[in-house]
Amino acid sequence: MKQDKITTAVIRQRKMEGKTVSMLTAYDYSMARILDQAGVDMLLVGDSLGNVVLGYESTLPVTMEDMIHHAKAVCRGAQRALVVVDMPFMSYQVSRSDAVANAGRLIKETGAQAVKVEGGEEIAETVKAILRAGVPVVAHLGLTPQSVHQLGGFKVQGKDQQTAQKLLDDARALTAAGVFALVLECVPEALARKVTQSLTIPTIGIGAGAGCDGQVLVINDLLGIYSGFTPKFVKAYANLAEQIKDAVQNYIYEVQERQFPGPEHCFSITDTVLEKLY
Ligand code: KIV
Repeated sequence: MKQDKITTAVIRQRKMEGKTVSMLTAYDYSMARILDQAGVDMLLVGDSLGNVVLGYESTLPVTMEDMIHHAKAVCRGAQRALVVVDMPFMSYQVSRSDAVANAGRLIKETGAQAVKVEGGEEIAETVKAILRAGVPVVAHLGLTPQSVHQLGGFKVQGKDQQTAQKLLDDARALTAAGVFALVLECVPEALARKVTQSLTIPTIGIGAGAGCDGQVLVINDLLGIYSGFTPKFVKAYANLAEQIKDAVQNYIYEVQERQFPGPEHCFSITDTVLEKLY
């Protein structure tokens, strides 16, 4: 392992030191390299891949093969960041032995350091089984997109006493099971703060307010290159979609006007060679 590679121990330590954790999604080598060089702590090969890269309406169609293919590329680009791979829908829900085998494949075939699973107390035994195989696990509570049909849409979770209490209980159960971090998606800020204060592991929020120990965003949202629905919690730090369109329109114009390629982009051949051609 490289000297300065971020490990699960480093992530846990951040909580003890009151320091934050930054996480971003990545789906390919080039982007992973840029984010890694920028200094992000964790790269998540999220199954949001289904929405932002593969063009599906949800994460449900994403397969193990999709995740492995993209995670391999991300791992090749990540020198320092800890890489977490989402376990796709139905890769850990059917049986515990499937879950362990699939978690193993994600680590073994990609070079990632951890997996992420969605769900609460009901998956605690599955989490333990994956951990027993030596695979670190990140949990994901709140709006869990793989359960979108059960949740009745992409909505804020934990707003009433019963669901808020369940979320807190789930967070405790998953911590006891041994996860090293917990993603909290789309939950009220005060609830996320309470969960964060109740746990010994770092919480990583997305739409869960500033009280979490860390934050995660989908990179396409952060860069402004996803044209689908953008939730309230997204902050776009750039508008790359517009910059990309401008660049491409410039290219099309220069091709039409025969301005590109210029002499500086061309290769030469001697006149002697040319003259001998017939
Ligand atoms: O798939 C994903 O990108 C995620 C983040 C939203 C946390 O799970």
